[in-house]
Amino acid sequence: MKIGILGAGNVGGTLGSAWARAGHDVCFGSRQPNDARIADLVKSAGARASAVTPSDAVARGDVVLIATPWDATRQALTDVGRLSGKILLDATNPLQGGLAGLDFAGGRSGAEQVAAWAPGARVVKIFNTVGFNVMANPRFGAERASMLYCGDDGDAKKIAAELAAAIGFDPVDAGPLAEARWLESFALLWIRLAVVNGQGREIAFRLMKR
Ligand SMILES: NC(=O)c1ccc[n+]([C@@H]2O[C@H](COP(=O)([O-])OP(=O)(O)OC[C@H]3O[C@@H](n4cnc5c(N)ncnc54)[C@H](OP(=O)(O)O)[C@@H]3O)[C@@H](O)[C@H]2O)c1
Repeated sequence: MKIGILGAGNVGGTLGSAWARAGHDVCFGSRQPNDARIADLVKSAGARASAVTPSDAVARGDVVLIATPWDATRQALTDVGRLSGKILLDATNPLQGGLAGLDFAGGRSGAEQVAAWAPGARVVKIFNTVGFNVMANPRFGAERASMLYCGDDGDAKKIAAELAAAIGFDPVDAGPLAEARWLESFALLWIRLAVVNGQGREIAFRLMKR
């Protein structure tokens, strides 16, 4: 799979590195692709990783991960040109300052806003509900952390689930993109548990069934 990353920070850097090590071709799209930080990232991710501009990352990727700060996400998506037809994995969280709530502008979840800013993209909400440290290692003893995802395009969701499983998650289909508001609320719960209410960042959720 050819994967472009928009936002090669904590989340984009961690996921891109894991996918490159798992055998995918990963283009880290950065506003400063020649910076030492990006060079170090590419070096540690291995031979299948490269650093390019955000527009080139989109042009080269069949799958594009958006992992930018929420207040930069609209600009980041509109700056890169056509995303129509691409599978767009949305890891962002529309966090309000002070972790007070979520920016559901116009009554739309973050993922629905992302879909409006990237016309024709096949948006899957995924990789937003746990911290990047868990993305680096989703295993907790014998168990794997669950990775919730939702979207309206069945093929795009299948690929998103495969990319989650490839790095150690147990993917869980949460339904259509309209469910993204609950995944984003779940993310805020993870953050508040981890950083406000004393649980620390080495936590994750697992869906149990019987
Ligand atoms: N941190 C987590 O554990 C976590 C977990 C799940 C979801 N999320 C969500 O994922 C998104 C990214 O979080 P993160 O922690 O990975 O962020 P981060 O470390 O700050 O990285 C974001 C990257 O976005 C790029 N970027 C593009 N436009 C930008 C702008 N105008 N201002 C600042 N950076 C810009 C920057 O890369 P260049 O400078 O190279 O262009 C930056 O490295 C957020 O929406 C967050 O809520 C975070």
